[in-house]
Amino acid sequence: MSKNNNFKATWTYADAPESTDHIQIKKQYELFIDGRFVKPIKGKYFDTINPSNQEKIASVAEATSEDVDVAVKAANKAFKSWSKLSGKERGKYIYRIARLIQERAREFAVIETLDGGKPIRESRDIDIPLAANHFFYYAGWADKLEYAFPNRKPKPIGVAGQIIPWNFPLLMAAWKIAPALATGNTVVLKPAETTPLTALKLAEIIKESGLPKGVVNIITGAGETGASIVNHPNVDKIAFTGSTGVGKFIQKAIAGTSKKVTLELGGKGANIIFEDAAIDQAVEGIVNAIFFNQGHVCCAGSRLFVQESVANLVIEKLKRRLETLIIGNPLDKNTDIGAINSTKQLKTINKYIKIGLDEGCEIYQPECNLPKNGNWCPPTLFLNVSQSHRIVQEEIFGPVLTVQTFRTIDEVIEKANNTPYGLSAGVWTQKGAKIFNLTQKLKAGIIWANTFNKFDPASPFGGYKESGFGREGGLHGLKSYVKFDD
Ligand code: NAI
Ligand code: MG
Repeated sequence: MSKNNNFKATWTYADAPESTDHIQIKKQYELFIDGRFVKPIKGKYFDTINPSNQEKIASVAEATSEDVDVAVKAANKAFKSWSKLSGKERGKYIYRIARLIQERAREFAVIETLDGGKPIRESRDIDIPLAANHFFYYAGWADKLEYAFPNRKPKPIGVAGQIIPWNFPLLMAAWKIAPALATGNTVVLKPAETTPLTALKLAEIIKESGLPKGVVNIITGAGETGASIVNHPNVDKIAFTGSTGVGKFIQKAIAGTSKKVTLELGGKGANIIFEDAAIDQAVEGIVNAIFFNQGHVCCAGSRLFVQESVANLVIEKLKRRLETLIIGNPLDKNTDIGAINSTKQLKTINKYIKIGLDEGCEIYQPECNLPKNGNWCPPTLFLNVSQSHRIVQEEIFGPVLTVQTFRTIDEVIEKANNTPYGLSAGVWTQKGAKIFNLTQKLKAGIIWANTFNKFDPASPFGGYKESGFGREGGLHGLKSYVKFDD
């Protein structure tokens, strides 16, 4: 590195792509119903593409209401014996699934990255290990439900219809399936239409694990398939993660039925930096809060609040940090920001960037060479924004951060809570007392202190207000899958 070269020009990395030789992807995927891979009744298929180059990866079966019916029947039938199996026996199968995910972790990580566009570093180090951990964690609970609910007799609910999004495909499947199985329910799960492949790979593992047929059914398709699950009369519980709009639709659809429901919807998390915070760590925290997974994170820290006395310093350091982020090939181990998941989502993000500009906000984007094909969005800051701006109020679900300042604790609490959502928040300060004060007053399901986007299977996750209700993870996550006679 020559001394006279400027910083940016010298800070280049050699390509470090993860290999794909060991990956087995079929040309066409069928529905996993009653322990077998079966063709969809109407014979329709859709493509799943790689969003980093727009190339087709595979054809995937599109389940119609007829297929949903077959899957629900299989789940219903399997429920009769699965719900009577001892917790210890159920646990064995769940442990087996967890170990098989671990064994195939590399394959899962590469497929997750190919199908959804997230950096391999994240799918390898976060999504896949956490998915396995989730199965391990709930496997441990399967024979200990009497301790989870002392003096009560928890019973499984029945058939759980589970609909998951595209931002953490395998992880969301694990969040949904593991607690359902641990408590003796059976499952019909639908992954999102842009990222079905790791759920189908999971179906292969489930088959290999010897799990009794019909206990887990995985069917693919888009919104209509999801709606057929929601509306099926023999589905006893709906677990949904996705947009607030669809969450509202689900609530309307099941009103007046005895179906139980948990909804994990959108967010607009506040990330609050106090003047006494460790500034360099806080800057890393800001980056992790909003640029992790291209900002396709319901609990992202998408609204930054910096105390006025350190605002200039933090913004300057943040801009400099943004210049070093590497955007591009998600399969490259150096990549920090991968591809936007779909053309539809990129359009939404670009729509909001335009709204921000039209509303007169100041934009900052570092210079970066975006690849030609595929869906890309540079990390983006909006400065000089206020509470009333749409980009501050509405979920963008991309690598776009709004930056506001504050002077007092009361002011920042009021601003942070002034949102229709209530999923996450972050607080950066040296003072424990300040952390406890804020965590009492911020209306958010998850609040991180001096960190952000930390997940653990033992920790409950969920929201308030338009972010939904019910908790996933931890002991709380078992509750959504049991009922009591008493
Ligand atoms: P979406 O809510 O339409 O998709 C999530 C899942 O719901 C997918 O599996 C989809 O097939 C299914 N679905 C769609 N319509 C349905 C219906 N009527 N009944 C049952 N299931 C249905 O989300 P979309 O359109 O992909 O993204 C739109 C916005 O939603 C994003 O910009 C983001 O703001 C938010 N979102 C939030 C997520 C979260 O983790 N909370 C995840 C994905 C999106
Ligand atoms: Mg895809």
